[in-house]
Amino acid sequence: EKGNYRHFMQKEIFEQPDSTGRTIGAYTNILRQTVELPGEGADAIDWSEVKYLYMIACGTAHFATRVAEYWFEQCAGLPVKTDIASEFRYREPALAKEGGLALFVSQSGETADTLAALRYCKEQGLKTAAVVNVPTSSIAREADLVLPTLAGPEIGVASTKAFTAQLAALAAVAISAGRAREQISRDAEIRLVRALTELPRLMSTTLQLDERIAELSRDIAKASDVIYLGRGVHYPIALEGALKLKEVSYIHAEGYASGELKHGPIALIDEETPVVFVAPFDGLFDKSLSNLQEVAARRGEVVLISDAAGVRAAGETPASRIELPDCDPFIAPILYSLPIQMLAYHVAVEKGTDVDQPRNLAKSVTVE
Ligand code: F6R
Repeated sequence: EKGNYRHFMQKEIFEQPDSTGRTIGAYTNILRQTVELPGEGADAIDWSEVKYLYMIACGTAHFATRVAEYWFEQCAGLPVKTDIASEFRYREPALAKEGGLALFVSQSGETADTLAALRYCKEQGLKTAAVVNVPTSSIAREADLVLPTLAGPEIGVASTKAFTAQLAALAAVAISAGRAREQISRDAEIRLVRALTELPRLMSTTLQLDERIAELSRDIAKASDVIYLGRGVHYPIALEGALKLKEVSYIHAEGYASGELKHGPIALIDEETPVVFVAPFDGLFDKSLSNLQEVAARRGEVVLISDAAGVRAAGETPASRIELPDCDPFIAPILYSLPIQMLAYHVAVEKGTDVDQPRNLAKSVTVE
């Protein structure tokens, strides 16, 4: 039940320190400071033998794979291809049958296109793994290896806690793959595991920004278009931010890679169009800052989501700022998922939409 919360979406946003913590707990051994994949068949896949990783999903789950793509490349040196399930299955993709692994991500485990893509890969002789939130689902039953997310039942149609649980599980799997492939040192593994275990506490701190984000959302609720920008691992977070806003507030939103701005989307910038920058102070911040200045120079209303150093560096250029706690860059995309969810939620509440049951949407898409 909803308890003291107004909507399930809000409750599920606030559950994330727990749901993510539970998922991380299942994938790590704190005493040994190492990643250990849960479940009996966890060694069904020998990551040192994997030559090519395909990650296939729909919607928000697809954006989780887009973040994980960076992790598998960085931690495990593994070539990755991500695909939207509905595109993948009709393309007759050329698959690396030797050493190819197909990994599916699904909250419900029943999404028709994802399930069909899983069956297709099995027929092609590929090994399969699935990150799923419902252990009894079709996708969980049919995959060679099940990697559970422990988000608990998600009621709100717009996915929130399932997304961060998917990210947490995928981050752990990427570390595990990196170790098996001898791509990360023991010290690096210790650092990454520590970063993961710090996440629940950092999420709790971030959730305290709720009032501040509610305040900002009043202006955004007046817009008819919103643009989200991010670089690197935060590019998929920008895509997810735009999807979340569209789904629950019905405001048109688009996510772009910040560097793509001048290749087209900058034409959309005017004083009526809020631009949300997802940009922690990392190695790419300087580039993002120059994009931010380009937007501000065209009188775009910039909302900067960053940390103390980023907020300081951006000075007075952004119209508003959301300041998150400092965190290890490895887990930043998981932490930065929270403010974009909170923003979508509050804009929807401000607009008075049916937050938990947005029009035209179903929780589980079992038709193609
Ligand atoms: C967005 C959302 C959808 C789902 C998509 C896949 O908030 O919930 O985009 O992510 O329909 O669903 P699952 O993960 O159940 O396969």
